[in-house]
Amino acid sequence: MKINIQKVTGFVPEEAIYAHKAEALGYVKALHEKTGKGSDFLGWVQLPSSVSENELTAIEDIAAFYRQNSVELVVVTGIGGSYLGAKATLEALSDNFWQMKSSERPKIIFAGQNISEDYLYELLDLLDTHHYGIVVISKSGTTTEPAVAFRLLKAHLEKKIGKAKAKDYIVAVTDAKRGALRTLAVQEGYRTFVIPDDVGGRYSVLTPVGLLPISIAGFDIRQLIKGAADMQKATSPGVAFDDNPAAIYAATRFELYMAGKTTEILASYHPKLLYITEWWKQLYGESEGKENRGIFPAGVTLTADLHSMGQYIQEGLRNLFETVISVDRTAHKLRIPADPANLDTLNFLSEKRIDEVNKMAELGTMLAHVDGGVPNIRIEIPAINEYNLGSLFYFFEIACGISGYLLGVNPFDQPGVEAYKKNMFALLDKPGYEEESKTIKAKL
Ligand code: PA5
Repeated sequence: MKINIQKVTGFVPEEAIYAHKAEALGYVKALHEKTGKGSDFLGWVQLPSSVSENELTAIEDIAAFYRQNSVELVVVTGIGGSYLGAKATLEALSDNFWQMKSSERPKIIFAGQNISEDYLYELLDLLDTHHYGIVVISKSGTTTEPAVAFRLLKAHLEKKIGKAKAKDYIVAVTDAKRGALRTLAVQEGYRTFVIPDDVGGRYSVLTPVGLLPISIAGFDIRQLIKGAADMQKATSPGVAFDDNPAAIYAATRFELYMAGKTTEILASYHPKLLYITEWWKQLYGESEGKENRGIFPAGVTLTADLHSMGQYIQEGLRNLFETVISVDRTAHKLRIPADPANLDTLNFLSEKRIDEVNKMAELGTMLAHVDGGVPNIRIEIPAINEYNLGSLFYFFEIACGISGYLLGVNPFDQPGVEAYKKNMFALLDKPGYEEESKTIKAKL
């Protein structure tokens, strides 16, 4: 993975970025030595190099169990950090049309990431006719969305195959000791995996939260971890600023923010990376958006969104900068055929690879956006595979820690997420919320 900030220095001087060098490297050290804000939640920093063989084997055993028992679907139930890492990886690594193609592996579908009645109804309707398992993921074990979905799924599966058998097809990923899900799992006899105490949801993709669904879908979690472990080394204390892509990224985006570029758009040219953007949005939005500060994380998939958001990016409010995930090699090769009639006038593209056209769109867009006043950071990966995704996840996580510290906030809490929950519970008359219920209903 490489980072290229050449198309930023026309907007903020290189010296201004390098002025943050010592501070950024200090924060790399603080993250490793657990001396900064939120230091109770830094377990993820050493995760790639410390994941145990036992844990990987246990995860692969569950994957083998579902496969050997011809399970067709596994419903992964979780939200936020307990959902997006697995979803992003699976979308990125799977065939674009996986839903419509047959597979020897169980297909992963998600629940608990919304409270849509139609979504859950239609899901249960689908499960009526499929052999399925459930992986329920919640660190707190009390989050409403996945808890509601799991209540429905548990009842459905028990009715379908009987309570005694259902417990073998349900796996819980939760806190080691606390929370309603842990209590339930112990009582029902589910197999369980632990989300470490010191790893917050949005930093948990390299724990069983991400690894279990990814392994069940048949992808190589060892390569994912290897990519992350190599990035851990490449961004560790002692690595020079110029060699540490995470420190460069954090310092660059911070300087852009100070120069009034308050929205960062993560862009990619492959629809498979859409959920990498969603994962990134959560990571940066929840980590930095507090105390009335923070870069607003937005995302586009190009070239599709050039035909929707392109106008704004080119000529709208100039508070934007763009970070492009650029993929060097595609998995497949396809050339544009020649057509003697040339009625579409596309013969200048005959025999060219589709990816060459995509790359020229990428290059042309970068130059157009830079000319239009949008600085551009390029994050280059050789190909979309497990190793590079592991590397990318760790890169963004460590850069997010540095970025949050540069901004002066605690990048590992999310106090603002509670506000909607309080209101929802009050509106739903949850016991214990009597006073809040009265107040909120008076407001309506
Ligand atoms: O990053 C976070 O901490 C959150 O997005 C959580 O992952 C999300 O709220 C789900 O929480 P839990 O795993 O406790 O159900």
